[in-house]
Amino acid sequence: MDIVVEGRFLIDGELKQMAVGIEDGKIATMGKLVRGGDERLEFTSGIITPGFIDPHVHFREPGMTAKEDFGSGTMSALFGGVTCVLDMPNTNPPTTDIRTLSDKKASIRRKAHVDYGLFAALTPNMDVNRLAPHVAGFKLFMGSTTGNILMNDDNEIGYLMGDIARSGKVLSVHAEDDDMILRDREESNWDHLRNRPVEAEHNAVRRLSRYRGMRINICHVTDAATAEMAKANGFTTEVTLHHMMFAAENVEGTEYKVNPPIRDLRTRDALCRSVEAGNITMFGSDHAPHTQTDKMQEYATAPGGMIGVETTIPILMNWAMHGRFPLPLLERMGCSNPASVFSLNKGRIKVGMDADLVFFDTKNVTRIDPDALHSKAGHTAYAGTEAIFPDTVMLRGNIQIQDGEYCGSATGVDTVDHPRD
Ligand code: NCD
Ligand code: ZN
Ligand code: ZN
Ligand code: ZN
Repeated sequence: MDIVVEGRFLIDGELKQMAVGIEDGKIATMGKLVRGGDERLEFTSGIITPGFIDPHVHFREPGMTAKEDFGSGTMSALFGGVTCVLDMPNTNPPTTDIRTLSDKKASIRRKAHVDYGLFAALTPNMDVNRLAPHVAGFKLFMGSTTGNILMNDDNEIGYLMGDIARSGKVLSVHAEDDDMILRDREESNWDHLRNRPVEAEHNAVRRLSRYRGMRINICHVTDAATAEMAKANGFTTEVTLHHMMFAAENVEGTEYKVNPPIRDLRTRDALCRSVEAGNITMFGSDHAPHTQTDKMQEYATAPGGMIGVETTIPILMNWAMHGRFPLPLLERMGCSNPASVFSLNKGRIKVGMDADLVFFDTKNVTRIDPDALHSKAGHTAYAGTEAIFPDTVMLRGNIQIQDGEYCGSATGVDTVDHPRD
C-alpha cells in the first residue's frame, strides 16, 4: 500500500469513519482498519470527499492566454477541490479538427495540475468520427458568445447527429437559439437580459427534442422550465453557481455580464428550487475568465463570462455546512454524476476508482479574497463571500495541496489519451 488515509469520508451521500488504502493511484482497499502503508494520513476532524469534476471550463489555451492558460486554470481548479476539468473549444484557433486538437494537446501537455478532457466544437461538415476517440465530448454553440463558432442551423446540426450518436460521446450544448437573441444596444445587465430572453433557451432545447434519448447535455441551465424539458427528453443538465446566486435586481456592471444572462429574482429562485428538487444533473462552473481590462470596457462591448472553477465548490461546501444545501446532492452534482455522464473512472470513493480525494477542514470558513485566487482574471463576483476551501487535495494518490499550500507538480493527464485500467 502506498498511502493509507483515515478520516470521515463522504461515500454515496453518507459520512463514514474509514481507512482507505491507495495503490498505483487508485483506491485499493477500504475498511474500518487498513494496515501498512508507506505513508499514513490521518484527519481527525473535517470531511474527505471525492475530487470534484467540473464539466465546463474555458482555460483559454491556445490564443487567449492573457485571460488564462492551462497552468493557471488547472491550479485554480486544484485550489477549488476540482481534480478533473473538461475544457471548452472556443479558443483561438477554436478546437474543431484533428490538427487544432493535437496542437492544443501538445501545447498543454505537462502544464496541468489536475486531470482533464477536451471538447471539440461542431462546425459544418466536421469529421466527427476522426475526432471522437480523442475528445471528452463535443460542444455545440447554438447562441453567439465568446469565440466565433456558432452553428444554429437545424440541417447543419442534423447532418452530424448520426455520427455523434454512434460515437458514444456526449454533446454539450450552449442552448440559446441565436435567432431569438436581440442586438439592441446594451447598457446594463437588464438590457443584456432583454436581449437574451429565457425563451431563447427554451426554444433551443425544444429544437433538440427531436434527438430525444441521445447523450445531450444542456450547459448552464438558467430556468426551471428548461431543466424539466431537458429531463423529459433524457438530456443531462448543468447549472452554474452564478445563475443560482445572482439576480438582475441585485447586481450591477460588467462583472456580471455572462451568457446566458443573470435572470430576474423569480427565475433565479425557481431555478434554485429545481436544483434542490434534484432536477439538474451537475454543477458546471462555466469558468470564463476575462482580464480586468476586457471587463472595464463599456457594457455594450465588454465580453461575457465569469470565473468560478476555484470558488463554486468552496461556496457550496460552506452552504452544505450551514444546512443551506444538502451534502449528498453536492456530492452527486459535483462528483458522481459528472463522472458517470462523461464515463470517468472518478467521482466516487470506491475500490478501483482514481484516488482523487479532497479534505475540507469544515470549521475553517473564510471570505473569498480575489487576490488569493489562482486565475489570471484577478477579479471575481464572489469577493467577500463565505467559503470553505480544501485543506488537502490528492490527485491519483499524489498530494498536490497540503495544509492549503501547493506541494505538487503538473501531473494532470488527458483522461482520454491515458486510459488507466
Ligand atoms: C463563455 C466564454 O467567455 O468563453 N462566456 C460566457 O459568458 N459564458 C462562453 C460561454 O460559455 O457561453
Ligand atoms: Zn456557453
Ligand atoms: Zn418558453
Ligand atoms: Zn461556457
